[in-house]
Amino acid sequence: MKINGFKAFICPLDGTALSENEAGWSCAQGHHFDRAKEGYINLLPAHFKRSKDPGDSKTMVVARRAFLEAGYYEPLASFLAKLLSAYQDSFSGIENKFSILDAGCGEGFYLREVLEHLRWENDDFEWDAVGIDISKWAVQSAAKKAKDLSWVVASNAQLPLPSDSMSIVLNVFGFAVYEEFFRIMKGDGMLIQVDPGSDHLKELREIIYPEVKKDSDNEREAGTGFKTFERRSIRYKVLLETQADIQNLLTMTPHRYRISQESLIKLEQLESLEVTVHFQVHMMSKGKLPEITVH
Ligand SMILES: C[S@@+](CC[C@H](N)C(=O)[O-])C[C@H]1O[C@@H](n2cnc3c(N)ncnc32)[C@H](O)[C@@H]1O
Ligand SMILES: [Zn+2]
Repeated sequence: MKINGFKAFICPLDGTALSENEAGWSCAQGHHFDRAKEGYINLLPAHFKRSKDPGDSKTMVVARRAFLEAGYYEPLASFLAKLLSAYQDSFSGIENKFSILDAGCGEGFYLREVLEHLRWENDDFEWDAVGIDISKWAVQSAAKKAKDLSWVVASNAQLPLPSDSMSIVLNVFGFAVYEEFFRIMKGDGMLIQVDPGSDHLKELREIIYPEVKKDSDNEREAGTGFKTFERRSIRYKVLLETQADIQNLLTMTPHRYRISQESLIKLEQLESLEVTVHFQVHMMSKGKLPEITVH
């Protein structure tokens, strides 16, 4: 398996192709975007931003990296890798080059892990990969860790990617913009969306919101233009063995900003916490995908 950084970006200001040069990326109209020292590019012009520092904060990114690297969500990463493997195998003898976008990639865990699983597989296949997030902190952290992939600061609402360019779009707990996902996806591409299931982190939520009742699973409709071809639920329990793991989990979620002082003290006194992890994986296509079986 050969893995490269995806390179065919478009200028966020006029939509023309960007070409790479020593200092960064430029379009034929003379717009230039510097490459940051960590290797990522910022394709989010200041006037596209709704706030000065959009997306996850640095503190959230640090907590997310530590929590994910501890392996608690590894079963999701390995399921996603199997799915990608089944996808590429379904093209055997027809096509051997694919592209993947992790839209709202955070600090890059899933893109990194999924490609790491595939790296040792079938040599005939080649993947171009890019992670995009609106948070500069997330992209910076992702770029430092996986230099062979491409990392871009941009919004899912306006992806700096050409139409029909992606085989796979991955959106894990992210901000989905289906019109853009549809535009950039190839005809035989696959959208993999992961949402929290109704039981996700329920034990943590019971401490934070003691009065809140359990929700039922609201299955997300397929995004405009897409057809659902499979859904999977992944559910298991994990034991958070240290106070640091509990704090990291809290800090990487919006619960951190809603928790009362009383619940925070309760959490701080725990030495460990068993929580349910519950993911809903929703697989969509433009309707032309060969059948994919994941075991
Ligand atoms: C819950 S985190 C998930 C990150 C990563 N997918 C993961 O599971 O580790 C949501 C991410 O979406 C990003 N985000 C929020 N709005 C966005 C937008 N409009 N475009 C791209 N990313 C966005 C945040 O910065 C954050 O990194
Ligand atoms: Zn331009």
